[in-house]
Amino acid sequence: MLSQIQTLAENLAPRLIEIRRHLHSHPELSGQEYQTSVYVAGVLSTCGIQVREGVGKTGVVGDLVGQDTDPRCLAIRTDMDALPIQERTTLEFASRNPGIMHACGHDVHTTVGLGTAMILAELRSQIPGSIRFLFQPAEEIAQGAGWMIADGAAKDIDAFLSVHVFPSIPAGSIGVRYGALTAAADNFELTLIGESGHGARPHEAVDAIWIAAQVITTLQQAIGRTQNPLRPVVFTVGQIEGGRASNIIADQVVLKGTVRSLHPETHANLPQWIEEIVASICKPYGAKYHFNYERGVPSVHNDLRLTQLLERSAQAALGYDRVTVLPEPSLGAEDFALFLEHAPGSMFRLGVGRAGTTNHPLHHPQFEIDESAIMAGVVTMAYSACSYWQQATTT
Ligand code: NI
Repeated sequence: MLSQIQTLAENLAPRLIEIRRHLHSHPELSGQEYQTSVYVAGVLSTCGIQVREGVGKTGVVGDLVGQDTDPRCLAIRTDMDALPIQERTTLEFASRNPGIMHACGHDVHTTVGLGTAMILAELRSQIPGSIRFLFQPAEEIAQGAGWMIADGAAKDIDAFLSVHVFPSIPAGSIGVRYGALTAAADNFELTLIGESGHGARPHEAVDAIWIAAQVITTLQQAIGRTQNPLRPVVFTVGQIEGGRASNIIADQVVLKGTVRSLHPETHANLPQWIEEIVASICKPYGAKYHFNYERGVPSVHNDLRLTQLLERSAQAALGYDRVTVLPEPSLGAEDFALFLEHAPGSMFRLGVGRAGTTNHPLHHPQFEIDESAIMAGVVTMAYSACSYWQQATTT
């Protein structure tokens, strides 16, 4: 089956490059993937896949039914949205939409999803179960997965596979990771309330700026002394606002920030832990607070068996030396995690690094890829999918 996949992929290569360049030059922002979803639906329809549009607003679902000798359904999820960045590459197929760019490689993900669909549609007679292709909108704002799930896209799925490009792995290679791949990302808003007064008479006031300084410093230090260092926590205050004049003691400071963590237990305890520290700082000085903690997406936790499936399939398809087991997770966030609340899954990192030149990071206006990566992505995904039914039932 692998050689069939490789031949089909080689024949499709020019078409896949064309698809990727079309998507790259027509990027759309999160939740506005109108043209992209029409385009994706069009490609899926031409290979005889049953298509549903408008699943999760601008999301597209393609169902490929195989031989129906195995009840399990595998989902392959790719995302479609671009970023509010003005592209600064010199590519002839650079973005035609001012201020919008595929700087996170979601054009590549969509192409890998479509290429996999085209190949597996040809091999339908050899597929025991069914495959659902999920083309997700709005990943960059961590909303699209939730929208699709709310519309039933994760229903009756037994396993999920997904992919994200990675510029620090050379094109032609991939990375897999067992366990945590990305972090849980929560947001908070903390309002510290003191009492205004004359800047020269601090004893008659409650200085909210001084309280805020202590909250920030204490929390940063407390991470190092109270959190398990093998279970990382990053606490970042990204916005601070308070005070009106140099000689007036501020009665209010608002802090806004993000909290990243990897371990589920740590993640569960974070709001209470932060609030206890805030309360203990405020109380002796008579300050009050409002603490609003918002849960974001959880950590992507790659399933052991499905990661093995990806690793072994990629080793067979690309060669042993082209598959890396990644030693470290990222503290970035990825809403693929929400699908994993419904069934186990695994996301691999697709190397897109270009040889002999600077590889700009994701979200950079000069981000570029080596397009040969697309073939590695498609072959890995298609062969992993075909091998899925040979595994014993995953639970
Ligand atoms: Ni991305």
